[in-house]
Amino acid sequence: MLTPIAPSTPSTTTAFRPPTVADGGELWRIATDSKTLDVNTSYAYLLWARDYARTSILAEVDGSPAGFVTGYVRPDAPHTLMIWQVAVDDAYRGQRIALRMLQALTDQVGDVTTMETTITDDNAASIGLFTRFAQERGASISRHDLFESAHFPDDHDAERLYRIGPLR
Ligand SMILES: CC(C)(COP(=O)(O)OP(=O)(O)OC[C@H]1O[C@@H](n2cnc3c(N)ncnc32)[C@H](O)[C@@H]1OP(=O)(O)O)[C@@H](O)C(=O)NCCC(=O)NCCS
Repeated sequence: MLTPIAPSTPSTTTAFRPPTVADGGELWRIATDSKTLDVNTSYAYLLWARDYARTSILAEVDGSPAGFVTGYVRPDAPHTLMIWQVAVDDAYRGQRIALRMLQALTDQVGDVTTMETTITDDNAASIGLFTRFAQERGASISRHDLFESAHFPDDHDAERLYRIGPLR
């Protein structure tokens, strides 16, 4: 009789798919746990999962939510994908899950030539992520002023606009 041989290291499966309304609460939890993102109301994440699922993505590790990207196609620039928030649970960072989410999302959305996002100057992880994404796509990345701290009604650092393209 053959005895199954257990793998020497546990293997995990990472899968990517658009979020559903049932995932909205997990998006809110991951954003809250990140301690870095501006956390929006739980309602906003449910609404996003309902209306912007095609331009958003959820990463699951062995069936459990581990990260997400929310985005939208800019109404006045139909080939530009604006990335609103990216987060990966602390336990899963450093495994290229965020990078793979951006790649899978770009493929999922399809007809986009430019990616945009905004980042505060102190967020080295986010700047590194989008710079690596641009490199992997053979695209250039440029930084522009967009939302100055004076634009915000509360205490908020300036958000620089990063533009990546052309995406192939
Ligand atoms: C930013 C974040 C999403 C990265 O998630 P991640 O899955 O660990 O990132 P990846 O493993 O896909 O990293 C891809 C690239 O990003 C860069 N990067 C990731 N983390 C970094 C860090 N802490 N410092 C500098 N660069 C970093 C690296 O260039 C990396 O490429 P490499 O693997 O060749 O070194 C994660 O740190 C996070 O959730 N942070 C809190 C929320 C946040 O700040 N979101 C971004 C603003 S919307």
